[in-house]
Amino acid sequence: MKYNLNINNQQHSIEADADMPVLWVLRDLLAMTGTKFGCGKGLCGACTVLFNGQAIRSCSFPVSAVGDGEIVTIESVDVSEPYAENGRKLKAAWSEHNVPQCGYCQSGQIMSAVSLLENNPKLKKQDIKNAMTGNICRCGTYPRICKAIESVIEIKEERND
Ligand code: FES
Ligand code: FES
Repeated sequence: MKYNLNINNQQHSIEADADMPVLWVLRDLLAMTGTKFGCGKGLCGACTVLFNGQAIRSCSFPVSAVGDGEIVTIESVDVSEPYAENGRKLKAAWSEHNVPQCGYCQSGQIMSAVSLLENNPKLKKQDIKNAMTGNICRCGTYPRICKAIESVIEIKEERND
């Protein structure tokens, strides 16, 4: 089947089986390898991307379900409106707090964090831990992930965004 996909604000024409996961499209057909394969079963969060602003597990999301929807990946979340502000702040916070260890899970972590902030403008610190539990980190970077997200929320609270 032929599909025209909106990925990172660009149209991409691809041919794929209807049940091909979006993760395969990104990595194997479009060479966007920032999104990672972990479990392949929707359990670890390594493959998280935004679909119409919501975090989805791209390993378990078939290309035939994308339709006219918009996919945003780690490669452009800091320049793609309307996510760019949170994407930029979170990427900077990840760097400032030295979050990654091996780094493998981190693109999925950032994409989940962007979705969290986009969909919860009044998010408080205590909500973060619960919200991020679906993204597994075998290196145990959870405390630094929470600190990085908290630092962005503090900025938002100071500005009353
Ligand atoms: S690779 Fe998709 S959730 Fe683990
Ligand atoms: S930084 Fe290694 S798995 Fe998360």
